[in-house]
Amino acid sequence: MIEKYLIVHGPNMNLLGERETEIYGSMTLDQLNEKIKHCAKELKVELKCFQSNHEGEILDFLHENRNWANGIVINPAALTHYSYSLRDALSAIQLPTVEVHLSNVLEREPFRHISVVETVCCKRYIGMGAIGYLRGIEYLVGQGTVKQIGQCATSAKTVDTCLRQVVQLLKARQPKYTWVGIYLLEENELVLHNFLGRPTPHARIPLGTGICGAAVTEGKSILIPDVKADPRYLACSIETKSEIVVPIFTGNTIIGEIDIDSDLADVFHEDDQSMLVACASMLGDVLSGGAH
Ligand code: SME
Repeated sequence: MIEKYLIVHGPNMNLLGERETEIYGSMTLDQLNEKIKHCAKELKVELKCFQSNHEGEILDFLHENRNWANGIVINPAALTHYSYSLRDALSAIQLPTVEVHLSNVLEREPFRHISVVETVCCKRYIGMGAIGYLRGIEYLVGQGTVKQIGQCATSAKTVDTCLRQVVQLLKARQPKYTWVGIYLLEENELVLHNFLGRPTPHARIPLGTGICGAAVTEGKSILIPDVKADPRYLACSIETKSEIVVPIFTGNTIIGEIDIDSDLADVFHEDDQSMLVACASMLGDVLSGGAH
């Protein structure tokens, strides 16, 4: 099923590109929407973009589309700070909602430090310009992936099928994920169980070697923005630019890892990490027999 999101821009956003450009930049609302649509196309999600200077019109748009959409990315602009009716609308329609602000509202006038919508949003990106919207869309996609992986963790007939489906889901959902694999720990080696992407010479990784081995030793996720700059890196392909490794635990013990490479540099951030930690936690249950 294709995910569908509402992109909502609040009052005065129509003046973007000419309004206080030292704060909001020179990008127009149309240019911003183009960037957002490009990202949605990459991630294969459908969007409806909307801007209004009228609180009631924004509420009507949210109400009208509440059954069409799976999520919302909203920059409520000044409504953020006082609109209880927007807060109640977001609370009433119960869709995962991301709050975005182009500028860092926490570093501006005190009245902008208050958000009455924050508590009904699941995530907030501030001061990142257009990137905040893109991260918002990616975040919602990630939440959808976690849900799908949860279903697969409870319904897959065997552990092998589950691991295979998880690799497929992760690879299919995120074009930046060029190589997705799951390693399982067998004695002193990480053994590649399942992967999608280019073949790797590293189907068995001794502990203490590679980024994968380091993640086991350190007992935590490792994000590598530039693999060439990390002497621990074992190359799977010369195209790989960045990597993330997230351990799979059962209790306090590491039993495997999700390893993801990208052909793009510096693309893994804390949202990828928290999404993959949630997936790894479900995989931990499956591998230890808890989810069936
Ligand atoms: N890069 C990993 C090895 C696995 S391949 O990327 C698939 C590492 O340094 O541990």
